[in-house]
Amino acid sequence: MVSLADHLFSKKATEQDTKVNAPKFMPPEELRVALPEPSIQLDQDSEWCLVEKPEGWQEIRFHDYGEIYDIPGLYEKLFYEILQCDSPAQVCQLLAEHLRGQDATPSSLRVLDLGAGNGIVGQELKHVGASTIVGVDIVEQARKAALRDRPGVYTDYLIEDMTDLPEPARRRLESFRFNCLTCVAALGFGDIPTEAFVRAYELVEPGGFVAFNIKRDFLDGGDLSGFAELMRAMIDENILEVSCTKAYPHRLATSGDPIEYVAIVGTKRAEVPAAMLSS
Ligand SMILES: C[S@@+](CC[C@H](N)C(=O)[O-])C[C@H]1O[C@@H](n2cnc3c(N)ncnc32)[C@H](O)[C@@H]1O
Repeated sequence: MVSLADHLFSKKATEQDTKVNAPKFMPPEELRVALPEPSIQLDQDSEWCLVEKPEGWQEIRFHDYGEIYDIPGLYEKLFYEILQCDSPAQVCQLLAEHLRGQDATPSSLRVLDLGAGNGIVGQELKHVGASTIVGVDIVEQARKAALRDRPGVYTDYLIEDMTDLPEPARRRLESFRFNCLTCVAALGFGDIPTEAFVRAYELVEPGGFVAFNIKRDFLDGGDLSGFAELMRAMIDENILEVSCTKAYPHRLATSGDPIEYVAIVGTKRAEVPAAMLSS
């Protein structure tokens, strides 16, 4: 069986070679972080670090996002300064290139940023020129950190579970008439479930842009969440038209090995049928 990676890369997709610069961050000088010994091989969803606090060193799992966002500068120091994360810049640059190729005006973008975290993707989208950027995340600390560290980036920022969106929140999101969806470093590993991605996709107008990334292994059959299967069906049925992809190192693991991801940019052509989500 052909893996989704081969499928994607053979299907109209072009590998881009863009030089991107990571956004500038200023973690507080005094913030001290220690990583496990590089010889310890940890799965991506069980990685952890030690952070020095006034009461002593505290272990924090990378997936305890709320705890990380609560400490100003920790997310930036850990993922960007030490582990050299490049995903927000890579995905947003690929989106920007695609817009240029389409003669689309970045300022016309009304973006739903799913799994927005502390706003680094929002900051990149602002840099691209998007006029409206609305964040959704499931943890309250994400919105607090985005407003604290990147005020003025998000037009609105909702804390919601996209799989169980209350009616007032749905109406609020619908009122933005999104023509772009971004979802960066948030799919898989117990983060955003497939259904949440589909619910966000439903909020984007047909013809809207979709920009996201996923671990390369997931496209090669290593995904148990059903996301790769859904993606394959969406592409085959021309529900999502993939225009460009780019494989790149998302960040280093605590072992020092690069974690390979693929950025994907395409256009929404149709809604996802209910049967496709449940199959
Ligand atoms: C690795 S962070 C990425 C944040 C941001 N996109 C970035 O690239 O910096 C993943 C984010 O997804 C959020 N998340 C996880 N599950 C979610 C869900 N079901 N709905 C919305 N956000 C979710 C987490 O709270 C976290 O903020």
